[in-house]
Amino acid sequence: MLPQADKNNIRTGLQTLAQFDSAPEQAGTTRVLFSDEENKARSYIKDLMQQTGMTVQEDAIGNIFGTLAGNDPDAAPVWSGSHIDTVINAGMYDGMAGVIGAIEACRMIRASGEAHQRPITVVVFASEEPTRFGTGCIGSRAMAGHLSLEQTKELYDDNGISLYSELERLGYTKLDYDAVRKHKGDVFASVELHIEQAPVLEQLGIPIGLVTGICAPTYIHVTLKGEQKHAGSTPMNARHDVVPAAADIILQLEHLARSYGNTHTVATVGKIQVFPNASNVIAGEIRFTIDIRDISKETKQELTKNICNYIQVVAKLRHLDAKYSVDTDDLPHMSDPKVLHVLEDTCQSLQIPYHKMTSGAYHDSLLVAEFAPMAMIFVPSKDGISHDPAEYTSIAEIACGVDVLANALLHLANMQSLN
Ligand code: GLV
Ligand code: MN
Ligand code: MN
Repeated sequence: MLPQADKNNIRTGLQTLAQFDSAPEQAGTTRVLFSDEENKARSYIKDLMQQTGMTVQEDAIGNIFGTLAGNDPDAAPVWSGSHIDTVINAGMYDGMAGVIGAIEACRMIRASGEAHQRPITVVVFASEEPTRFGTGCIGSRAMAGHLSLEQTKELYDDNGISLYSELERLGYTKLDYDAVRKHKGDVFASVELHIEQAPVLEQLGIPIGLVTGICAPTYIHVTLKGEQKHAGSTPMNARHDVVPAAADIILQLEHLARSYGNTHTVATVGKIQVFPNASNVIAGEIRFTIDIRDISKETKQELTKNICNYIQVVAKLRHLDAKYSVDTDDLPHMSDPKVLHVLEDTCQSLQIPYHKMTSGAYHDSLLVAEFAPMAMIFVPSKDGISHDPAEYTSIAEIACGVDVLANALLHLANMQSLN
């Protein structure tokens, strides 16, 4: 057994990251991909990796790799990692706990002097959140072969800047994009530590969640165009108003998602842009995102088809121009039973109670599952709150997750095979 995680290291890492905040005047932290603040956070993490005895590399999409050498440099590495980008007004744990936790786990392994055959690599995946470019898991998506360099030219932020131009500005296009891609066998196993973002562990009073499967997202970007007109002088029967049309679609989405009557079928409209966005003008255009999640591929496809049909019906009835694109349509994935088994064994030998559960939130591990055996460790979230400044997990709870992570990584790094 390794010595316990150092709570001060975890606290310092998380508090330092939280200071890289593009909107310090607002509650919470905002740090989107390749902003000045995110670039500073990336430098901080790279320094921390180096101080922990790791070799640091980046790839052409901006993923960061910090590797602790093993005795067999040719053996496939064991991975652990998460993300440091955030939603708008985020908390300070979503993603960051997994990055700081993995670095601390490596420090513990190194300090213990325990031998390990396989390299252990901490990965900071580029932009797990869809905040800036509308698509999440950008780094892991590219690793899994679902985002080509050409496609980065089609991903724009709200200011019309493409992901490609940002990669070019920061020098990432000088690196080999083909090397981003990972194939089966490249990674021996991957374990991501993350906050739960739901209240289950807290309600059960259990410190560790072991993730058995991850729900996957589908994103639909919708644009409705009508007629921009005067709000006072235009009678109700002479309008082609896009706002009530969007409201109708959003309520139908809620109704459809609820009709499945289970906890994993969920749908959200979280981003709406109205043009020109003035109180006395009938809006001529509205854009909104639809985020659908499920652990069942079939249910997600059915719900997606139904809401897309409904968008067409509403547009036809109200004489609007409707455009929509399904921009992300990920497959749900189950964790690898053998990696899960290692995590269960680790919890048992550390005498830490655990609960097996499904993740409603997605994670980079969803894409990693396409090329490596993966599993995840959850630690409790106070009141289940996440994607909000009130997100909270105590340092002691994170340290408990890091203890499980470190021991499991060491074990995996000395396994010949998972069989
Ligand atoms: C990740 O942050 C998600 O939206 O599930
Ligand atoms: Mn998140
Ligand atoms: Mn996350």
